[in-house]
Amino acid sequence: MIEVREVKKHIEDIQVLDGISLDIHDGENFCLLGASGEGKSVFLKNLIGLMRPDCGSIKIDGEEIVGISKEKLLKVQRKFGMMFQGGALFDSLTVQENVEFGMKRLTDYSPQKISQLAEEYLAMVGLAGVGDKLPENLSIGMKRRVALARAVATEPKYILYDEPTTGLDPITTDVICGIFTDLRKKLDITSVIVTHDIQTAEKVADRVGLLYSGKIIAADKTERFMKSESPYVRQFVRGSREGPIGMKNRKKKNESRD
Ligand SMILES: Nc1ncnc2c1ncn2[C@@H]1O[C@H](COP(=O)(O)OP(=O)(O)OP(=O)(O)O)[C@@H](O)[C@H]1O
Ligand SMILES: [Mg+2]
Repeated sequence: MIEVREVKKHIEDIQVLDGISLDIHDGENFCLLGASGEGKSVFLKNLIGLMRPDCGSIKIDGEEIVGISKEKLLKVQRKFGMMFQGGALFDSLTVQENVEFGMKRLTDYSPQKISQLAEEYLAMVGLAGVGDKLPENLSIGMKRRVALARAVATEPKYILYDEPTTGLDPITTDVICGIFTDLRKKLDITSVIVTHDIQTAEKVADRVGLLYSGKIIAADKTERFMKSESPYVRQFVRGSREGPIGMKNRKKKNESRD
């Protein structure tokens, strides 16, 4: 279980995270929605220890990670897989080598086993037989699926996905969503999916949260969230420019605003 309490993080003079509190339960698909620039990627990076919060607490399976040593953090990071925004594959490595990368670094499996597992994960995302290709020769949808296979290949307990379906056509989006659902059935993984795509959230999430102004201002079971009376949620779900969420400047560090 991931327990986040009152996490704050400023970058330069912007208060990006302003007191985030959230529980993510084992086995669930949690979707975090939020407009561009609200701090979704920053939040994920804080969760996995790639960025250190200014204050607050993040417990992973009961273990506090805020303020712990690099060595201890590395151990906790092994529980995580991450699909970065845009997929971020290694361009000079083949598809197969991309999927093998984490396993080589984090497991003591034999080269044969690593190669066999990489093939299995590629098959699971519908990409059997493309292992020899370089990422530049793949479509965006295929690259995302490779990134997915790479994120799950180390069989982490938690996977963080940063905008897994942004920029994809609706059919490819549905293929990726289908893979999420399959993954959860096959490998008991807990997923945190960051997106601004409502349809992705509706299809894959057990619970949905909305990040706004540095805080989780709503979180609920998917069906209830989509019907929420909150004017913020309603505006976001409907994709309307009318409502309390505006294009205002972000709160500056040390500025009080509510
Ligand atoms: N490395 C950085 N240096 C300076 N500012 C940063 C950095 N990373 C994030 N920010 C700022 O922090 C804020 C939140 O950024 P973040 O990338 O987390 O937003 P986001 O919700 O993921 O947006 P998007 O949906 O566009 O990916 C933005 O104002 C951004 O400019
Ligand atoms: Mg982002």
